[in-house]
Amino acid sequence: MGEKLKFGVLVSGNGSNLQAIIDAIEAGRLAATVGCVISNKADAYALQRAKQHGIPAIHLDHRLYASREAYDEALVETLHEFGAGLVVLAGFMRIITPLLLDAFPQAIINVHPALLPAFPGLHAQRQALDYGVKITGCTVHFVDAGTDTGPIIIQAPVPVLPGDTEETLSARIQTEEHRIYPEAIRLFAEGKLQVEGRKVTVR
Ligand code: GRF
Repeated sequence: MGEKLKFGVLVSGNGSNLQAIIDAIEAGRLAATVGCVISNKADAYALQRAKQHGIPAIHLDHRLYASREAYDEALVETLHEFGAGLVVLAGFMRIITPLLLDAFPQAIINVHPALLPAFPGLHAQRQALDYGVKITGCTVHFVDAGTDTGPIIIQAPVPVLPGDTEETLSARIQTEEHRIYPEAIRLFAEGKLQVEGRKVTVR
């Protein structure tokens, strides 16, 4: 066995996905280490969650940087400092630039609350309800220069039920996110993901 993967998690809010990842590690279902959690928001609850588990919790305020590139440079520096070999976006509400993408080629992943390529961008659950689909879900994918366009790693379907609101649907989708995100990180950590063009195969 090689050395265990260390990864950085970028957050802006609640951090329920971060929690699911930490839980998977502590339960022995994921042999990897969270090297650091970085938030652009000082009051992100995700930072509290990190601290409670003894994980370095860092606030990098985007407003203190002159450009998106300058901010991403600070992100890269911090991620390198903590030895990250993978960047996990978990509710990180910032657009990332090629500077970050190029520093972690095919090593940045995201979870999106829809079955991509349906409903990319913001308010995916609202989009699904407005469209009237009967099934939506969530997707873990590699991040590329587009918005939610990168190669798909794992998806899980979730039914849209009569009377669903954005809140009830989001909660049902999140349950599946919490299952597939740690699983995707495990596949990455074990070197099982092979990317060819837009296709990801699990070896
Ligand atoms: C998730 O629902 C994810 O789909 C989206 O942001 C949300 C983050 O939630 N990208 P949390 O902070 O992990 O609770």
